[in-house]
Amino acid sequence: MKDVVRRNFDASVDAYSTYERRTNRFTALAQLLAAEMRARTDGGFGTVLDAGAGTGVSTRVVAEMATDTIALDISREMMAEIESPTRLQADFDQLPLVDRSVDGVAFTASLFLVPDPEPAVREAARVLRSGGVVGAVAPLGWVRPDGKDVFEGLDRESRSPAGATEVRDALADAFAITTGTWRFSTTAANLRLFHAIPAMAARLYPNLDTEERVAKARELLDSLDGTFEQRWRWIVGVAE
Ligand SMILES: C[S@@+](CC[C@H](N)C(=O)[O-])C[C@H]1O[C@@H](n2cnc3c(N)ncnc32)[C@H](O)[C@@H]1O
Repeated sequence: MKDVVRRNFDASVDAYSTYERRTNRFTALAQLLAAEMRARTDGGFGTVLDAGAGTGVSTRVVAEMATDTIALDISREMMAEIESPTRLQADFDQLPLVDRSVDGVAFTASLFLVPDPEPAVREAARVLRSGGVVGAVAPLGWVRPDGKDVFEGLDRESRSPAGATEVRDALADAFAITTGTWRFSTTAANLRLFHAIPAMAARLYPNLDTEERVAKARELLDSLDGTFEQRWRWIVGVAE
């Protein structure tokens, strides 16, 4: 499973960057999450781990609030252009960090990608110092103006996106959490662009290869028109 996620993201760099250039969505999520995390510290952060750093969108935001930033991702290709002095290719379920060595752990749109978020949450709790802060953002989906899920009734192999409940529950088991929802207005064109990212199209058609699944997602979403609301769950927790 991890190998599949890694390969999917290795193949996603260009489409991911195109989507981010067009929408700025991941930058916005990282900034909102950073503000929630910062609000739970007395005087800012020393070392912060950007867990699932991707192409470095969230790393740039984390670096603004931390003295030291560690960018960690399972995909070598996604991380290739990150300029952070500390870059680690690793699985956030097994962090190559010693106990109580960081002040913050940020999972910007990354923790929902594992089938079970508990191991990564346990690892975050292990590496955080007392009073350290963990933050996560996970998708709640796209909603039509009439309140219905965009994907309801669409013929795909699996649901996209999913995982926000599991992420919240895993964090609630290990930390005292605060949670909420962020809502963004978006267009059908941007929803298609999001699913042109191979790793995101994999959430609709997990059994197809890269090109087939992107083509099938384009076909599936082709008739969508107008504007939608994209919802993301945020969760912030403080370590004891
Ligand atoms: C949607 S991207 C978000 C990247 C970045 N945080 C941002 O805001 O642009 C999710 C990233 O999580 C990484 N990822 C997924 N599972 C992982 C794991 N088990 N360990 C480390 N990174 C993982 C993926 O490789 C991908 O780069």
